[in-house]
Amino acid sequence: MDSNQTIQLLVLVLLVVVVSVFTGRNSDFLSQGTAERKSSKDTSNDALERNGPVRPTPIVSTPVMPSSAYISRWERAILEAEAMLANSSDGGVPSCLLPNTKGTADMLDRLLRQRDQKPSGVNSSSTDPLLSLPVLNVGMPKTGSSTLASFFKCSGFKGSHHYLSKVLANDKRSKEIQAPCMRDAARLGLPILKSCAENEEYLMQMDAEYPFTESMSDHISSKFRDDCFFPQLELLEALHDEAPNATYILPFRPITDWIKSMKSWNHMLSRFSKCNFPNMRMGLPENLQKPEPDLKQFLCSHVLHVRHFVEEFPSHNLIELDLYDQGTSGSVLSTLFPKRNRTTQGSCWGHANAKASVPQPKRQNSEPTRPGNKKK
Ligand SMILES: *[C@@H]1O[C@H](CO)[C@@H](O)[C@H](O)[C@H]1NC(C)=O
Ligand SMILES: *[C@@H]1O[C@H](CO)[C@@H](O)[C@H](O)[C@H]1NC(C)=O
Ligand SMILES: *[C@@H]1O[C@H](CO)[C@@H](O)[C@H](O)[C@H]1NC(C)=O
Ligand SMILES: *[C@@H]1O[C@H](CO)[C@@H](O)[C@H](O)[C@H]1NC(C)=O
Repeated sequence: MDSNQTIQLLVLVLLVVVVSVFTGRNSDFLSQGTAERKSSKDTSNDALERNGPVRPTPIVSTPVMPSSAYISRWERAILEAEAMLANSSDGGVPSCLLPNTKGTADMLDRLLRQRDQKPSGVNSSSTDPLLSLPVLNVGMPKTGSSTLASFFKCSGFKGSHHYLSKVLANDKRSKEIQAPCMRDAARLGLPILKSCAENEEYLMQMDAEYPFTESMSDHISSKFRDDCFFPQLELLEALHDEAPNATYILPFRPITDWIKSMKSWNHMLSRFSKCNFPNMRMGLPENLQKPEPDLKQFLCSHVLHVRHFVEEFPSHNLIELDLYDQGTSGSVLSTLFPKRNRTTQGSCWGHANAKASVPQPKRQNSEPTRPGNKKK
């Protein structure tokens, strides 16, 4: 080894040492940075779990929502639903599948006390609703939306059920449905209620479940595109922007009856399985004979998602109803939304068709949605 070689070797060793120290430091630095970023993310996720997304001034302000808040709200609902259902595998019914009727009763008490405390002299008539309009049904199909719609219609409110209310030139009612209209309006950044339900006081079925090919005879759209869309799942934020005081109704019936009804009514279950929901992917339930686990997870996460939303934005009131407790449900609604129409006699609950008051799996004519040409 001559001195030139020694020097070259020394330089090489030095270089290796410097490079390894530098990359070591560097990778330390990098991993530290990642750790820091990770931990700050963890903290904010923890905070999100505990408190929900950071909320701006409550009540009527428009929520400024970071794009991650929307995803987080669903993630939270889905994970909580999973935990709740796993917990109740011993046969108990988890609270996400039962109406919070105590919450509804407490709300009613509070509102009645508030009304009675109002100074007389303020103009308020006994037919003023105790809650803000519009009233939106955020429940699922086959949970009494027709009964609810006929209640509001009979009571003298103006609203809609599934279809757009516009009247065509030939004086016929439009057969266009609300859900695709709302979806399109939301995608264009247009106000969805103004675009698809202007001046409506109640909307009792916003959703449509016509995936590709599952069209109604008088509704051509879904032959060519997917008309499965649930505003109550996908558009709570946009609905809030537009109607920050809207009242939500969430009707319940026993989960086993709901599932039976979903199975037996116009292929509703198979149509569901062709839809992509934020909380159930296309293709589920896989086994239409045994859809219970998937549908429970779907419904439970939906209910939790709505409840969390209303907790976050308390300018909304949520009326949870037990459809099978007709006496209570009828009297709660008649008290909250007193009859304006003095020509109708008696109670408006179950008014249109007494038998329709409680949804029955076999009833075929109480719902407006019927894919007439697709019976298999
Ligand atoms: C599971 O059940 C236990 C005991 O009833 C209860 O303390 C816990 O909060 C439940 N967890 C969930 C996620 O519901
Ligand atoms: C109260 O009602 C009277 C008579 O209907 C009306 O003239 C008046 O403007 C009302 N006042 C308020 C504050 O709405
Ligand atoms: C009042 O009720 C009657 C009978 O049900 C109905 O024919 C009429 O259209 C209703 N009026 C309003 C304003 O809702
Ligand atoms: C919502 O309710 C609040 C409080 O009652 C009221 O001040 C506000 O004007 C309402 N907003 C709308 C859009 O109705």
